[in-house]
Amino acid sequence: MKKNIAVINGDGIGPEVTTQSVRILNAIAEKFNHEFNYTYCLMGACAIDETGSPLPNETIEVCLNSDAILFGAIGHPKYDNDPTAKVRPEQGLLKLRKSLQLYGNIRPINTYPSLEHLSPLKAKQLENVDFIIYRELTGGIYFGKKELNDDKTKALDECTYSKEEIERITHLAFKQAQQRKNKLTLVDKANVLETSRLWRKVVQEIAPQYPNVKVDYMFVDNAAMQIILNPQQFDVILTENMFGDIISDEASVLSGSLGLLPSASVGVCTALFEPIHGSYPQAAGKDIANPLGSILSASMMLDYFNMQKEAQLIKDACNWALQNKFVTKDIDPINFYFTSTIGELICDFILGKIHGDVNHENVQLRKSTII
Ligand code: IPM
Ligand code: MG
Repeated sequence: MKKNIAVINGDGIGPEVTTQSVRILNAIAEKFNHEFNYTYCLMGACAIDETGSPLPNETIEVCLNSDAILFGAIGHPKYDNDPTAKVRPEQGLLKLRKSLQLYGNIRPINTYPSLEHLSPLKAKQLENVDFIIYRELTGGIYFGKKELNDDKTKALDECTYSKEEIERITHLAFKQAQQRKNKLTLVDKANVLETSRLWRKVVQEIAPQYPNVKVDYMFVDNAAMQIILNPQQFDVILTENMFGDIISDEASVLSGSLGLLPSASVGVCTALFEPIHGSYPQAAGKDIANPLGSILSASMMLDYFNMQKEAQLIKDACNWALQNKFVTKDIDPINFYFTSTIGELICDFILGKIHGDVNHENVQLRKSTII
């Protein structure tokens, strides 16, 4: 199969982790006889530096004409502490989501037995955790009216949702629940917010079309607690934009590292695949960032291309790396491997170049022992 992929490296560790994913996609192409063509484009702080805009029109064009988008990370500290900045890197990502109508953000959460010690939760709570968050991505408070009064003492962020916006992601979430454990939890704040009451009404209206799916409703404050207390209860979580942003970072704590989590954003046009982590500027350029969030996002991209075998092989390779302690600094601060070494090992696994146990001594040269 031939696919055209738009690659947006973005900021901070974005380029390093994305480079590994492209390398792995190339290994997949070689093994399964596919052709992946990449077009690199700008977005984020690097785009502001080069063009003055966080999302040049050319990037939107390339994305619209591609089969999928692989994106790294966005953000730069020089904007974070400057509330007066008129142009911000994140505006690029938000505009891209809106321009491509990427309304459904899908974030799978699972745990790895070999990483249980990294989570602040007790091992028992982490067993068999496997749920998926469906976060609405193009509506709500992120995209509502924003105002600051003239003397800059009053600000407004409006939260709006239309029935149609809720319906389309709700159908996606129900369909996913049918492929899984047939359970859907709507996370909202219907005891306070009008928009949340609309979400409940729409979900209740749609539920009879999926009679085998059990639906329950949870207020977001309670959900934040339940994700930590009893994460095994969840299968598909459906929620609005801002709640989804918050609870997905929270849920990453279950896996052991934010660096492991992939995501897919789907909608009307080209789908986008990105790790859920940020640009992690402190680690940029050091070859220490965890590439698995990005690599697993590439696996989600292959699933989306209907290349299930290929997608599964990437997941198997990542599991193999984790089980054999080929991990980055976020997972093992003492015996860690570089980002590029992990990418190389995963490629070797995919290409069948790894047989039996790998001697850690043999990869030792690329391993950092300096703390
Ligand atoms: C995410 C990020 C983004 C968001 C930022 C970078 C705008 O936190 O994808 O979760 O808030 O949606
Ligand atoms: Mg976030």
